[in-house]
Amino acid sequence: MIVLKTSRELICMQKACRISAGALKLIGESVKSGISTGELDRIAEDYIRSQGAVPNFKGYSGYPATACISINNEVIHGIPSNKRILKDGDIVSVDLGAAYEGYNGDNAATFAVGEISDEAKRLIDATRESLYEGIKAARAGGRIGDIGNAIQRYVEERGFSVVREFVGHGIGTKLHEAPEVPNYGTAGKGIRLMPGMTIAIEPMVNSGLPGVKTLSDGWTVQTVDGSLSAHFEHTVAITTDGPEILTVV
Ligand code: MF3
Ligand code: CO
Repeated sequence: MIVLKTSRELICMQKACRISAGALKLIGESVKSGISTGELDRIAEDYIRSQGAVPNFKGYSGYPATACISINNEVIHGIPSNKRILKDGDIVSVDLGAAYEGYNGDNAATFAVGEISDEAKRLIDATRESLYEGIKAARAGGRIGDIGNAIQRYVEERGFSVVREFVGHGIGTKLHEAPEVPNYGTAGKGIRLMPGMTIAIEPMVNSGLPGVKTLSDGWTVQTVDGSLSAHFEHTVAITTDGPEILTVV
């Protein structure tokens, strides 16, 4: 069931999303060679709690941390650890959210650690821009396939590939609500986009093959071919005035 949000609920969503975006920004500023992903996770959790919110990934399907932190060939759901130390040349994808007064925010970004390769820079830029292409396509009266099609075209034109096994999602009083929001598809297909829908759009893009595998820890998802992967996500409201990005500081 797709839950349409009232304007009062959108204000609640805005608050949760602003805290989520603040935590992600803080992590981006904290990323540096020598820091552990466990330390980054604590920084995110402390910030979210300091804002009177709760980390909404923690305990979700048994997930053990505030953030998912995935390095290089890891696509998503990397579990933070004091033993995972960032080093120069890494790219690090951070996905996190906050719940505030019962409403959820969710966002992600991939950051560079020090100087990274040109290929890694191109991948990060393409993934970030593909998210904005998807957001532009999230218009009332359009269809869910418009979003995925815009993302997929942008990514594939640049020689990269879109992960199929994981998708974006509706979001509201639950972290994951209907509908699914694939990062690939056909324009004009799928459910109709309506004002009041709040969705998390989150392209996961690989520099090589699109395939992924989940490790034996039950969470960490890696590219099948060892290629690099990037991930960007915003929570977006569909309004009569167009798409509104809620995960802004
Ligand atoms: N961040 C994921 C998403 O964007 C959800 C993470 S699953 C969790 O939908 F268990 F880690 F929370
Ligand atoms: Co999400």
